[in-house]
Amino acid sequence: MTELSTLPLSLTVNGRIETVQVEPWVTLLDLLRERLGLMGTKKGCDHGQCGACTVLVNGRRMNSCLRLGAMHEGDEIVTIEGLAGPDGTLHPLQQAFIDHDAFQCGYCTPGQICSGVALLNEGKATSREAIREYMSGNLCRCGAYTNIADAIEAVAAEQARTAMREAAE
Ligand code: FES
Ligand code: FES
Repeated sequence: MTELSTLPLSLTVNGRIETVQVEPWVTLLDLLRERLGLMGTKKGCDHGQCGACTVLVNGRRMNSCLRLGAMHEGDEIVTIEGLAGPDGTLHPLQQAFIDHDAFQCGYCTPGQICSGVALLNEGKATSREAIREYMSGNLCRCGAYTNIADAIEAVAAEQARTAMREAAE
């Protein structure tokens, strides 16, 4: 029997450099979940249709089920496990999801939060309509959409208030 060929891969995941041997067909999603044990990123459709597997790649949101791990040599990946501070303080959007009751079963939540964090960083959460449009790649079977939009809107408003305060100082 021939041995399966693997490639060496080094990437940063949640601030840690990870070096692994990976088969060329392994997706980033499977690499994160099965090789690195980061089970927070969820596999929904595995076909790029639901957004459950969304992670941040060099700050941009991507469906990790559509990426091959081997494509990410040297990249910086952030998953839901990497969003809280080192002392466990939740990211403001994680806290807002709790405050606004933005999840039910929670299966879509890691992808929703990663997508929402990128959206906020992109500065595109400028209106309710924009939030809905830019979050449309993330599906929620439970239908928590209204509260998800509330959570993102609340963080966007807080960021705008902070920016105004800082500009006034
Ligand atoms: S699991 Fe990747 S988009 Fe559905
Ligand atoms: S909270 Fe259940 S799928 Fe979104």
